[in-house]
Amino acid sequence: MTDFAGRLRLGVNIDHVATVRNARGGAYPDPLRAAKIAEDAGADGITAHLREDRRHISDADIDRLTEMLSVPLNFEMAATPEMQSIALRHKPHAVCIVPEKREEKTTEGGLEVAREENRLAHFIAPLRDAGCRVSIFIAADQRQIEAAHRIGAQVIELHTGAYCDAHADGEYEIRDRELASLREMSAYAHSLGLEVHAGHGLTYDTVQPIAAFPEVMELNIGHFLIGESIFMGLEPAIREMRRLMDDARG
Ligand code: PXP
Repeated sequence: MTDFAGRLRLGVNIDHVATVRNARGGAYPDPLRAAKIAEDAGADGITAHLREDRRHISDADIDRLTEMLSVPLNFEMAATPEMQSIALRHKPHAVCIVPEKREEKTTEGGLEVAREENRLAHFIAPLRDAGCRVSIFIAADQRQIEAAHRIGAQVIELHTGAYCDAHADGEYEIRDRELASLREMSAYAHSLGLEVHAGHGLTYDTVQPIAAFPEVMELNIGHFLIGESIFMGLEPAIREMRRLMDDARG
């Protein structure tokens, strides 16, 4: 079972550097350059989601990240044959399996593992055999956690989106309920021997209660950091997130 040794890791998601680049169809700004700045600012890993529609990160970005990063790459992908073969070609340090819908603006919910246990068990087996650390992005739901455990995932990433949205909307009772179930499910997943990560929608205002959960080993944060970098620069934006995380961890 994972212990609580080591500091909470920060994975910086650079997808939305590619979103800005793709708005003009050229090569600027370069997500790899952002990833290098993130490394210098203390990111423990870089996360990139190659979506089926290639709306932000491209295949060429994944090639370059695989080649040039000094910190581990966390490759987010849908459970499709195409993505599996790309992952097996690159063998990134980690893969995170996420649900994907073409019409969504972002990854709206967690993966439905319980209903697709058999397919997903077969899907992740070759990734594990290739040496990738396999994470499953799920809601804080005991059924999904148990299913992720049964299919052989080493890690679950808990979706913090509902908690963050409730905070942003001033729905504090809902926010506190979401936070309580994230706390309870982090402890439950850890008790099964799963490594626990969390992410989606986290900001300076919402990160600390999640960072304070002792079972959480890694946070993956993107959109807010790239947005904040417009105002203060990417390196200071990441350093401030790092400071808040370390502070919460105490
Ligand atoms: N974790 C996962 C699995 C995600 O899909 C995303 C969004 O791509 C994030 C973390 C980061 O979310 P955000 O960009 O809102 O910080």
